[in-house]
Amino acid sequence: MTHPLVLQRLLRPLALAVALAAGLAAALPARAAPAWLTLSADALVVLQRMVPQTQVLGQAEVAVARPLAPRSAALEAATETIVAVEVDDQWLEMLSLMVHRELQRCGGYVFHASRAEALATLHRLSGSPAEPTAVGPAPSYAIDNATQILPLMPLLQASHLMATVDSLPAFQNRRYNSTHGVAASDWLAERWRTLIPATRRDARVVQITHAGWPQKSVMVEILGTTRADEMVVLGGHLDSIAPGTIEGSRAPGADDNASGIASLTEVIRVMMAGGYRPSRTLRFIAYAAEEVGLRGSGEIAADFLGRADKVVGVMQLDMTAFQGDSTDIWLYTDYTNAAQNAFLATLVSRYLPGYTVGYSACGYACSDHASWHTRGFRASFPHEASNANYNRAIHTVDDVTAIFGNDPQHMLKFTKLALVYAVELGTLPRGSRGALAAR
Ligand code: BES
Ligand code: ZN
Repeated sequence: MTHPLVLQRLLRPLALAVALAAGLAAALPARAAPAWLTLSADALVVLQRMVPQTQVLGQAEVAVARPLAPRSAALEAATETIVAVEVDDQWLEMLSLMVHRELQRCGGYVFHASRAEALATLHRLSGSPAEPTAVGPAPSYAIDNATQILPLMPLLQASHLMATVDSLPAFQNRRYNSTHGVAASDWLAERWRTLIPATRRDARVVQITHAGWPQKSVMVEILGTTRADEMVVLGGHLDSIAPGTIEGSRAPGADDNASGIASLTEVIRVMMAGGYRPSRTLRFIAYAAEEVGLRGSGEIAADFLGRADKVVGVMQLDMTAFQGDSTDIWLYTDYTNAAQNAFLATLVSRYLPGYTVGYSACGYACSDHASWHTRGFRASFPHEASNANYNRAIHTVDDVTAIFGNDPQHMLKFTKLALVYAVELGTLPRGSRGALAAR
């Protein structure tokens, strides 16, 4: 006879699924549509248990680099199995919840606009041993712009960071498909507009419309003076998520990711206040719809690739306020570019000598840097904590500024790093107009 406890354990996931399904019914779209995803093998097991009719379209062994030990820059080569599937989109929210519960991690899936795109992602990721073939010109990682950087650094102010992490969580949530999420995007576009003086004809704010959902991404572009066709991208997601209905759920997302948007906002403000004019074009992008499969950044990176835009580097800021370890800045080594990561570590030792750097990995495509990386762009992801010690209140009503003690100091480190990165890559040495950068 089956022991009741065993039976209970066997039935628990099922009961949970039923309860979740009932709770989610209100949030489900009236008509379901096919969705194409890539996800890791362990998440596939969860999905198949929930939706046995999931169609597996293909799989790939993906080479990833991860630190041999925390804080160590020495990496080991590992492989991960990534699977492409087609599944009805009504299951996506429950998939996130179940992965979270069963695998004790956040653990998303990456959403693709078509079956072809999901398969192309598998193909690109399995293409080369270490990382996808780099697209865009290789920058010189020489550090030679202290004269531009040093006057800008003292202009950075922690109080401005607090203003952003207070303002964005004031929206009920910033879901990609809620009226609040739309309003938050509009608010940010307006906020960024106020930072650009009328005299700066080289700078503008654009909202980027997406076909599949109402929340827009927001972009500030500062045109380069001498090499405008080459660009540096700094980004972070503006959306937030927590369980519940589309309109009713409370998702403050102060750390995840008002913090990253706060840093971008402050870098833009300081560049304008300091009269900085980059040689390469800078693009600051607040992505819509990250929390539902990196959708906003996926569309945007695909557009950049389609236009063959010359992107020399991408930095992602997602969660920078909560200090989980004594180490200050954590560079994530998976779905990122090793050479650019090494450049960031050098920037820290040159310009931010008091800060320590550690290395960690998510183990899956956990934020928008992966949208760029899988399309061949050089991306990096400096993060608040190691993957063992990040803020566990994310995706809940408790992701409020109190979770980081209302203290902007951790965010300030990442803001400095973003400024230094943007100016070092954005400024070419005098007289280099039209010439190729040294490699
Ligand atoms: N900020 C998180 C990613 C994250 C969490 C990075 C913890 C490092 C430590 C991001 O907003 C997120 O929630 N991502 C999803 C995956 C995405 C593809 C939907 C996740 O981790 O589940
Ligand atoms: Zn998140």
